[in-house]
Amino acid sequence: MFKKLDILDEKDPHLRKKSTEVTFPLSKEDKKLIQRAIDHLTYSQIEEYEKKYDLRPGMGLAFPQLGLNKRIIVIVHEIDDETFDNYVVINPKIISESEEIIAAEVGEGCLSVNREVEGHVPRHARVTIEGYDEEGNKIRVRAREELSIAFQHEIDHLDGILFYDRIDPKKPFYREDEIRLI
Ligand code: NI
Repeated sequence: MFKKLDILDEKDPHLRKKSTEVTFPLSKEDKKLIQRAIDHLTYSQIEEYEKKYDLRPGMGLAFPQLGLNKRIIVIVHEIDDETFDNYVVINPKIISESEEIIAAEVGEGCLSVNREVEGHVPRHARVTIEGYDEEGNKIRVRAREELSIAFQHEIDHLDGILFYDRIDPKKPFYREDEIRLI
């Protein structure tokens, strides 16, 4: 039975703490929570379930948003109509990043930020992430465009950073000739 997750609001202090590295093996509880996060994010991106369970659509979650300051992120990326790639990365690190900067044209959203925040969030167009899977095997992910933004957004959560921290209050919007808007 699906049970939606309780996701903390931005005002909760968990969202502003630096999370600690995880050791293996993962606890049963952590594994269960990872699966629930995958289910929640997947359902939130399928219209029928989004309505049925009153979910806000989202493609990523980090453990601090669930009240646990552990370095675990989950991303469910829709690659085709209701077809998803799931990424679970434990202790993720960005090991390389493109010089090219992009931003989501409509801005970013966050399941912990229950209000509209306008502005472009500059992000690297491509990143390579290293970390571990749930079994403790070393993994490497190359992400570009929307997925790259998602990884940078989720890894920020592990350091207590929210997307709007990266919006320049003096210049919240960029032109297409300044950074590439996607
Ligand atoms: Ni977020």
